[in-house]
Amino acid sequence: MINAMSAAHGDSWYVTILLFVITYILIKMGVSKGAKILHMILRLFYVIMIFSGVVLLMTIWNFALLYVIKGILAIVLIYAMEMILVKTKKGTIGAKAPMYWGLFVVVLVVVVLLGLQVIRF
Ligand code: HEM
Repeated sequence: MINAMSAAHGDSWYVTILLFVITYILIKMGVSKGAKILHMILRLFYVIMIFSGVVLLMTIWNFALLYVIKGILAIVLIYAMEMILVKTKKGTIGAKAPMYWGLFVVVLVVVVLLGLQVIRF
């Protein structure tokens, strides 16, 4: 069960990021039906990431501070992805685009480096 969660988490994070990028491209290309379907699948991956992450945090990591912080930042990352997609779809992202993209890139890098323990404390 724990191994399955570890595999689910470790194998799903890049699928999540890839789905986000493809959904964004489809929105920009005006392929709204395709974007809608991929956005739904992306939201399913948010659930998989959060569920498997929380299980791993509670079991093998016993709420280690490193992964508590990583988990919180991962939620910020999901927020940034949702804001970018929803606001781009509505056409209301405007001047806030660089802020959300900046947040996305910086938090993504930190979350992955914390997850892989490249950054550790
Ligand atoms: C989109 C959101 C997320 C991304 C991109 C992400 C990314 C990653 C990455 C790259 C790893 C390293 C995996 C590996 O060793 O192969 C990892 C591990 C981990 N993440 Fe996440 N994560 C996300 C969400 C979360 C959430 C919401 C939590 C907890 C609340 C969490 C808790 C953990 C824990 C505890 C580990 C250690 C797993 C292990 O030892 O196998 N993650 N994450």
